[in-house]
Amino acid sequence: MAKDFETMEDSNRSANPSIHALSDPARRLWLQGGLGALASGALAPWLAACASGASAGPLLGFQGIAASSADALRVPEGYVAEVIAPWGEPVGIPGAMPAWREDASNTAAEQALQMGMHHDGIHFYPLDGGSSRGLLVMNHEYVDDGLLHPDGMKTWSAEKVKKAQAAHGVAVIEIELHEGRWQMVRPSRFARRFTASTPFVVQGPAAGHALMKTAADPEGRTVRGTLNNCAAGRTPWGTYLSGEENWAFYFDGGEAITPDQKRWGLRKSGFYRWGEHDPRFDARQHPNEFHRFGWIVEIDPMDPASTPVKRSALGRAAHEGAWVAVTKDGRAVVYSGEDARFEYIYKFVSRDRIAPGGAKTNRELLDHGTLYVARFGADGTGRWLPLIHGNGPLTAAHGFADQGEVLVKTRQASDALGATKMDRPEWLAIDPQRREVYCTLTNNSARGGKDMPGVDAANPRASNVMGQIIRWREEGDFDGLAMRWDHLVLAGDPANARAEAQGNVKGDIFACPDGLMLDARGVLWIQTDAHASQMNQGEFARIGNNQMLACDRTTGEVRRFLTGPVNCEITGATLTPDGRTMFINVQHPGETSSDRSDPDEPNRFSRWPFGGRPRSATVAIRRRDGGPIGT
Ligand code: FEO
Ligand code: CA
Ligand code: CA
Repeated sequence: MAKDFETMEDSNRSANPSIHALSDPARRLWLQGGLGALASGALAPWLAACASGASAGPLLGFQGIAASSADALRVPEGYVAEVIAPWGEPVGIPGAMPAWREDASNTAAEQALQMGMHHDGIHFYPLDGGSSRGLLVMNHEYVDDGLLHPDGMKTWSAEKVKKAQAAHGVAVIEIELHEGRWQMVRPSRFARRFTASTPFVVQGPAAGHALMKTAADPEGRTVRGTLNNCAAGRTPWGTYLSGEENWAFYFDGGEAITPDQKRWGLRKSGFYRWGEHDPRFDARQHPNEFHRFGWIVEIDPMDPASTPVKRSALGRAAHEGAWVAVTKDGRAVVYSGEDARFEYIYKFVSRDRIAPGGAKTNRELLDHGTLYVARFGADGTGRWLPLIHGNGPLTAAHGFADQGEVLVKTRQASDALGATKMDRPEWLAIDPQRREVYCTLTNNSARGGKDMPGVDAANPRASNVMGQIIRWREEGDFDGLAMRWDHLVLAGDPANARAEAQGNVKGDIFACPDGLMLDARGVLWIQTDAHASQMNQGEFARIGNNQMLACDRTTGEVRRFLTGPVNCEITGATLTPDGRTMFINVQHPGETSSDRSDPDEPNRFSRWPFGGRPRSATVAIRRRDGGPIGT
């Protein structure tokens, strides 16, 4: 999402420090290379050693492309990129396929049957076990009301709020490769939309909690809708995990905002103005509705009749997304972070092992286990701190009556434990062989500012507009309580005058890393999300439009693979099992600095993809010779 930084106040005013020296002297022995090497991004010896086992031949087999400021999507020589499933296309629900209208005059009811706006996290689920037919499941993170309605927000109505709600959520579509081109299969029995109105069941320790009960749901177990769905993970048991990220922007708080609400960024008026016509989003009238978002949601795309679930055991946060590792004995470890300035990184370790049998047999797997928050030490070690009721300050005396309250107030619980305040954690990627985890920390221009937390080892730059990628290796197994960490790369441009914006990229420069995907060959794909107000100017002048790059973690080389149209964000990446098609999403082409287009000039910055109103869309990328992507 673009909106989440320059316009969003940081809300973490907790006193926990940003640098935490670990007291265990034995752990200091891990320090090999020191803070200077970590900050410079130099490979720690343990990483250099594991890198020596790399596969033969060059990992990056494509010719890198130049940075671009053009209103076009570009890929390397020998590749072809084709648009599928743009905003407004009917998803293919049988008997309910309203056509897209270029003038944005589709109704709310029609939008609920069409692709939503602002495509984000995406995964491919093969059908028939192959790579030529499958489902794409993807998030629709937020909306540009200036593009969504013919006259934008010049007038405002309940119908417009309903249409905006219908353009949010998640889509399931069926696609097939037909004569070398991917296309949507319509109608399809799998086609489905989840919107800001679809019923979700709440499971886990916060289900039925007093803080989750509302007038419309006195049981506190059924929530209408999912909001601001950003990144996505695919579970080993075949489901889709989606993060509810900047949901606080949707609520009106009025004049009397409580400290708890303020900690979550509630403001007097929500950016989307839903509360004016839907009292559910007026936190003065329905304060607990505010607690019912910020969860990881789980969807079974293979069962069109399945009920989606909010997994409260994974904690409430401004969740970017969720990614699953598996311990040697078969338990699930779900990593997540929350993308806001000075917020946290989490992992959840399931109590039980993943059972054979897929989604149905694992329907309660993510309801039982332990949630931890990360503390990154100054010496390159780190610890996972358990968010368990009764642990240290997590007691009734400190405002946590039970485990349900710890989870509803995951941020406050993490403040109390002294977790490390990060530079906006976005996507994660997991290397099961190396037992490594990577996380993009996209930027934090407030770091080191007046009355703001200063730099620390994990977040080493003041006024950090460029971002970095942190990585860690768990000690023992993925459920380990200790880790060792360093930086894969600090993004930036070495030609910058300001040292904090120079970075240490080897190869093609980039800024604001966001999306991440580790492919089966070990290539780490990096996607960027610099804001429209920054791109191609000032410190970002040479970096170009948002883009996708590939990193060879052995050599550290970064090579540019794709450049997007003007003012878009590149986000979401998934490969077919044969590695010969990559799907990515282009989000908000032509976005304005205010994140809201002028309805009288919807094409002011971009006409991508089809020359008319700009539309977020999925792009299928293939090699002309049919070979694997990136080789
Ligand atoms: Fe939705 Fe943090 O990007
Ligand atoms: Ca972002
Ligand atoms: Ca993102």
